[in-house]
This record gives sequence, structure tokens and C-alpha cells, in this order.
Amino acid sequence: MNKNVRKAIIAGNWKMNKTRPEAKTLLEELKPLVADVKGVEIVACVPFTNLETALAVTAGTNIKVGAENCHFEKSGAFTGEISADMLAEMGVEYVVLGHSERRQYFGETDETVNKRTKAALAAGLKPIVCVGELLWERECDITEEVIARQIKLDLFGISAEDAKKCTIAYEPVWAIGTGKTATAEQAEEVCAFIRAQLEKKYDKATADSMTIQYGGSMNAKNAEELVKKPNVDGGLIGGASLKAPDFTAIIKAAEAN
Ligand code: 13P
Repeated sequence: MNKNVRKAIIAGNWKMNKTRPEAKTLLEELKPLVADVKGVEIVACVPFTNLETALAVTAGTNIKVGAENCHFEKSGAFTGEISADMLAEMGVEYVVLGHSERRQYFGETDETVNKRTKAALAAGLKPIVCVGELLWERECDITEEVIARQIKLDLFGISAEDAKKCTIAYEPVWAIGTGKTATAEQAEEVCAFIRAQLEKKYDKATADSMTIQYGGSMNAKNAEELVKKPNVDGGLIGGASLKAPDFTAIIKAAEAN
């Protein structure tokens, strides 16, 4: 379809894993394995404490570095928070926003995801905005309503030009860390739906140019089937991104498709 007009992005979301020495070891192992990869943007989204290490280890390579969140204010009395400007100044390129774990455990709402997305864009970061339904919502057959609402709210007030700098990650909450992957058909169905929502909100060219990832128990075995789908442009990988050979296999599957 229009896959050639957009970038395939495979991003690892390390979550709360890896000390600095462990981060260095993992990235050093990954570097030579993916050095020849073409046509796939490789991103490691790491804990704040690992950003400097990750930037140093990946300098001059084809591995980009991302953070796992950022605050929406530029600075001020927000103990424990990190601003988008702080990340951009370091040389961080990507930032994961609205991950379901942030929504579930840290009170993140569509309103704050929207504010964080705007702050990240203003700082020159590339947001990876996560959306996805709960199992209960899928069982109640409201997946499309949930996703349409998240897209509308999370991207509220964001221009087409800025939207093109965003990646949307479709992560069905029931598939995260559960070993229960969405079938390639389910992933394609929702990713296509997301693209249709983007077309409705913006225009066809904008929707066609935006990368939509699948995330949720994606691994070396199931990656190929998922990234083969016309509207699945890559993946946001949790557990399997912590093992260099597994993450590499996913990257290679995206390269081949
Ligand atoms: P898992 O790949 O461990 O299921 O995690 C997916 C995820 O949440 C990526 O952001």
C-alpha cells in the first residue's frame, strides 16, 4: 500500500530495567548486530538514568535514543519530573508518551498526554504516543470508540505538520507483558482504524506519512507476521528489547518487510 512513504520504526521500551553498566553492555552487544540495517529507524527508549550512557554508547551509530516520558511544563516546582527541554538538550531524539503503564499506575490522562505531546514537540523531540484499549473495553466491543477518543484527545490542537513528527503506538493493554499478542489481523485492523482517524483529523497525505507501531508481547517469533501488515509500520517492544539477539531479530523482520 503506502508503506514506502513512511518510516519503519522499531523502538525498545526498556521500562524500569537496566543499571548503567547493564545498559552499556546491552547497547554494545546490539550495535554490531544492527550496524548494517537499512530502512528501519532503531530507537532505544531507556530510563532517565541511562540516557547519558545510551547517548555516549550509540554516538555515531544507527541507534537513536529516546526517553520514556517527559513533563509538560518547561521548568518549575515539579519534584521528580524531567522536562522536554532537559531531554532535548542532552541530544535525546524520541520520547514515549501516554504509555498504558503511566496511565494505569501514575494517573496519566489523555489531557496530560496531550500537554506532554505539545511540550515534546515544542522542544523538538519526536513523540511516540501510545494508545490502546483494556481487555474489558475490547470485550465490550468499544475498541474503536476508545481509540478514536484517545487519538482525538491526545492530538488535540496539534497541527498536521507537528503530527507528522509523531509516531502512534497501538498497544492493546491486554497484550502488554502478558505473552498474549494481538493477532496480526487484530493489530492491522486497529492500526488501519488509527490511520483512518488521522485522515479524518488531518488529511490523507498526513495519515499516510505517519508511522503506526504495534506493541504488546512482540517478539522474535511473531514480529514478521505483524510488520508484514500494510498498516503496521514497526513496533514498540518491551521485554524482547532487553535481549540484543531478540531485538535484532525484530529489527531484521521490519527490514525485510
Ligand atoms: P512487552 O513487549 O513486554 O509486552 O511490552 C510492550 C510495551 O509495553 C512496549 O511499550
